[in-house]
Amino acid sequence: MTSESLQFSAAAKQRIATLVGRYPERRAALIPTLYVAQEEFGWLSRDAMRLVAAELDLPESWVFSTATFYTMLRKSPVGAWHLQICTNVSCYLRGSDTLMQIARETLGIEPGETTADGKFTLQAVECLAACGNAPALQVNKKDHFDVTPEALRELLISLRDEPAAAANGGEDA
Ligand code: FES
Repeated sequence: MTSESLQFSAAAKQRIATLVGRYPERRAALIPTLYVAQEEFGWLSRDAMRLVAAELDLPESWVFSTATFYTMLRKSPVGAWHLQICTNVSCYLRGSDTLMQIARETLGIEPGETTADGKFTLQAVECLAACGNAPALQVNKKDHFDVTPEALRELLISLRDEPAAAANGGEDA
């Protein structure tokens, strides 16, 4: 898709206008606007970042550097269900390596990969700020705490049986 053909929907434009109105400077709305773009297009392609830059009247380099800094801003497409398993210390000590192994075996993919049917993307991530409830994982925007191997198996089965979620990374799960 070219930058000429990539456009925000009217609803997304309205959201961005509301966000911009909350701040004294347009640039302050950059990260929330990147989230709007991510929800709109599923991930942040270069064209999507250019669109954000144009929308906020910011240098493209500014938008690129911000988008590439944050791992929660996706720079590549993901499956309908984006499974992010924390592998940092607290979660590791509470069994995240077992969770990752279950996910790898169940989905048949490695971290960073997407299943052939486009349903799941598996990712190892750093701290999800839920260390007190380790091990933690996230599916799209929803957190799962104190995850047991059994709970993960059940979660994967239930997600696999659900209809493919929307291209923007799907609904919360
Ligand atoms: S180490 Fe996993 S949530 Fe903090």
